[in-house]
Amino acid sequence: MLCAPLKFEDESMLCQANRWADLIEFHIDHFQTSTLEKWRRLCHKPVIFKLSASNFNVLQHQPEYVDLPHTVSPEVFESIKKQYPQVKLICSYHDFEQTGDLTAVYRQLASHPAEIYKISTLARTTNDALRMLKFMKTHKCLGICMGELGKITRILAPIFGAPWTYAPLSNAHRTASGQLLLDELVTVYRYRKHSPKTSLYGLIGDPVKKSSSHLIHNYAFKKLGLNATYIKMRVTPNELEECLSLCKFLGFKGLSVTMPLKETVVRYLSHSFSQAVNTVGFKEEGVYGWNTDGIAALDVLEKYTKVKEKTIVLLGAGGAAWGVAHEAAKRGARLVILNRTLSRACRLAQVVGGTAFTLEEFPRIAQLGYDILINCTSVGMGDDLSIPISAKDLLEKKIVMEIVMRPRTTRLVAAAKAKQCEIIEGIDMFIQQAAEQYYHWFQEHLVDG
Ligand code: ATR
Repeated sequence: MLCAPLKFEDESMLCQANRWADLIEFHIDHFQTSTLEKWRRLCHKPVIFKLSASNFNVLQHQPEYVDLPHTVSPEVFESIKKQYPQVKLICSYHDFEQTGDLTAVYRQLASHPAEIYKISTLARTTNDALRMLKFMKTHKCLGICMGELGKITRILAPIFGAPWTYAPLSNAHRTASGQLLLDELVTVYRYRKHSPKTSLYGLIGDPVKKSSSHLIHNYAFKKLGLNATYIKMRVTPNELEECLSLCKFLGFKGLSVTMPLKETVVRYLSHSFSQAVNTVGFKEEGVYGWNTDGIAALDVLEKYTKVKEKTIVLLGAGGAAWGVAHEAAKRGARLVILNRTLSRACRLAQVVGGTAFTLEEFPRIAQLGYDILINCTSVGMGDDLSIPISAKDLLEKKIVMEIVMRPRTTRLVAAAKAKQCEIIEGIDMFIQQAAEQYYHWFQEHLVDG
């Protein structure tokens, strides 16, 4: 269910809540007691009265639920139950600083006679939010993590047995940090379709905020008729081991992996088919890792030109570059690898067979000639307006492939366009690598398609 909070008296928003929400929460402290009867009458959906003070008289207006803090004594809960037997009680706990010992919190709540125990804590890391979901798997409660990193607990609530999630209809009615608007939950994440049978997929990496992968994958899942959802999780290398074990426990089926985790993730997998993994699959036999960046990049590139015996200048030597370099070498390309850190470029060149230089050497390399230039560095991503090599040294009328997806026109793409180069954008490769990921994740579901 979706519960729309009403932070203050707002008739137009109540009309919308009547239409779109399953449940409406009145923040009673901001309502005048004299007008409550009218609001109760206007409300056509079950209602929660959220109280912070002991103004229990308002319960005469017969809400379906009342939400009280756990600091109210169990005896008071008991007496409310006696006086208003039809009202269901929610006993809630808030920690705005951290996600601590959830078992200890639950124990405190369980001493209260209530129908629902609500635990709301701040997620400082994605693992905090995953721990909350794990807790909900084993304890019947409404667990929510506040903050940006806690959003996943709100999106996945029905999969882990929460009776509802709080979803305001406008920013003005947001009552906690990290709440998603009702429209986004329904439209992007297909919240109303979620059930414990929904398969879980997600992106891990840092940063992930600007990635559009949740939009693309959730849309694709819908089009493919899959009961699955895709979320984004900010995970640092230090958090990775715990994150993977939590994802496995929670029943995740697959993960996309982005920087800076593609190489680190390998050590936590039971079977890895690459040294830089961008696709993880949780199977019965173990945790598998593949790289679909390389195959995708080369498949897209070869729609323009075969790479056999062509010279490719590859910028970067990180996870994405590893995938692309391996596949390009396999298909017979000559590789010149340029990276900010020379030692990383040398290591990669040694493995795939190629030559290695620093990015500063690009003018000299360009003079020797090349056919294709591929940017596999993160330079130019998001708000970064820089370019990995000097624009003036780019050769004219060559193929330039950009791995950065956002912005669509990076400075490198703009410079290459000015030199009449043929451009392959990051989005082209992204879509292709997502399709390759589906081969690993949904093999058994998509055999005919
Ligand atoms: P991914 O998995 O997406 O490839 P990564 O493994 O973190 O991410 O690799 C990022 C690449 O971008 C690396 O080649 C990195 O160069 P270093 O090996 O020297 O770190 C490159 N990169 C990142 N920031 C850069 C910058 N400001 N200038 C030049 N190269 C940069």
